[in-house]
Parts: sequence; structure tokens; C-alpha cells
Amino acid sequence: MYKLIFSILALTILASSACAAEAKTLVIVYSRADENYNVGYIEKGNTMILAEMIADKTGAELFEVKPSKPYPAAYDECIDVAKKEQNQKARPAILEDKDISEYDTIFIGYPIWWGDIPMCLYTFIEAHDWNGKKIIPFCTHEGSGAGRTESTLKSKMKGSNVLKPLAMTGSTAQKRRESAEKEISVWLNGLGF
Ligand SMILES: Cc1cc2nc3c(=O)[nH]c(=O)nc-3n(C[C@H](O)[C@H](O)[C@H](O)COP(=O)(O)O)c2cc1C
Repeated sequence: MYKLIFSILALTILASSACAAEAKTLVIVYSRADENYNVGYIEKGNTMILAEMIADKTGAELFEVKPSKPYPAAYDECIDVAKKEQNQKARPAILEDKDISEYDTIFIGYPIWWGDIPMCLYTFIEAHDWNGKKIIPFCTHEGSGAGRTESTLKSKMKGSNVLKPLAMTGSTAQKRRESAEKEISVWLNGLGF
């Protein structure tokens, strides 16, 4: 009898630790290098810097959303294209997709473009089922904070739990990496990572 109870207990413990091991975290990011506001020409996008820090500190996999047609390298041209896309509610094609079904916690990173997420992220988001997932947004900006992105994500990621986005200026991520890294660590600790 004791043997049976012990076996059941052992099996239960094994099953729950297997579930915990299966809990997977993903970082999805769109970020643009080239010329940007306040930072000049950059080799790595501001949000990408944060995405890499998050993936590094949490051990999560990193997936980059890439538009099939890259945005212009010059800042002024890029803001015109982005504004047009937003006005037209465009859904620009992306190069690659990612199966997100096995991830239960998903960080999603983006620059603020005209107060919202870039349209290529709408393309990715609308192609997936977010039901039951925990979504942790983070963004970079140059004054707007997270803009209206929290409500965009809540309306587009039905059935998920979208947390309040972390918002940091892109120039902090790009030029003051130590301070950016500290902020990211404190934020991640607060989230239980
Ligand atoms: C097309 C475009 C639109 C932008 N719109 C805003 C905006 O509405 N508010 C803001 O604070 N910053 C805005 N910015 C600045 C970016 O959000 C900021 O530079 C960000 O850090 C860029 O991140 P990335 O390098 O990861 O793409 C805009 C930049 C671009 C290129």
C-alpha cells in the first residue's frame, strides 16, 4: 500500500517538473537599424539591444520580425513610408513566420512609430492565436512613452494577458547601455525572472 502511494507521489512530482520544464519563453522583436532620431546611423536597432538583453537574462529564444521590403535607411523617408502605411492600415509582408504555440510567456518588443506599433508587427500578430498567453511588451521611443500600444496589443491579442509595456528612450538603449541594462534587470526581477 505504502509502495503504491509512494509511486503515485513520485509520478505526480515527475509530471509537474516536466510541465515546469516545458514552460517556454519567447522574445519577439521588430527593430530598425540605419538612421534614427537622436542617435544618427546605427548598426543595431535600439529595441533590438533591449531584446538581446532580455533574451540573455531570461534564457528565452529570440525571434526577429523582418519586413520583406526593408524600410528606407534615411529617417525622413522612413517616417513618410510608416505614416502612409498607418493611414492605409497596411499589412506589409514579412520574411519569415514563427510557430508560437509552444510558448506560454512572450515578450514583444517594438519601436513606437507614430504612437503605435509598426504595421509589420500587425501582420505578424494577426496571423497568430494568442489565447492563454502572457504577453510582456517592451518598447523604445523618443518622447511618446508606450503611446497607444497597450490598447492595440490588448485588442489584437485576444484571450491573452497583456502586461503594461516597459518604455525606454531609444537613445538610452543605444548610448547608455549600462543604465539600460540596470533598468531591464530591475524590471525582469519585478516580473519574477
Ligand atoms: C517611422 C518612425 C516613427 C516614429 N514615431 C515616433 C513616435 O510617434 N513617438 C516617439 O516617441 N518616437 C517615434 N519614433 C522614434 C522611435 O520610436 C525611436 O527612435 C526608437 O527607439 C526606434 O527603435 P528601433 O531602433 O528599435 O527601431 C519614430 C521613429 C520612426 C523611424
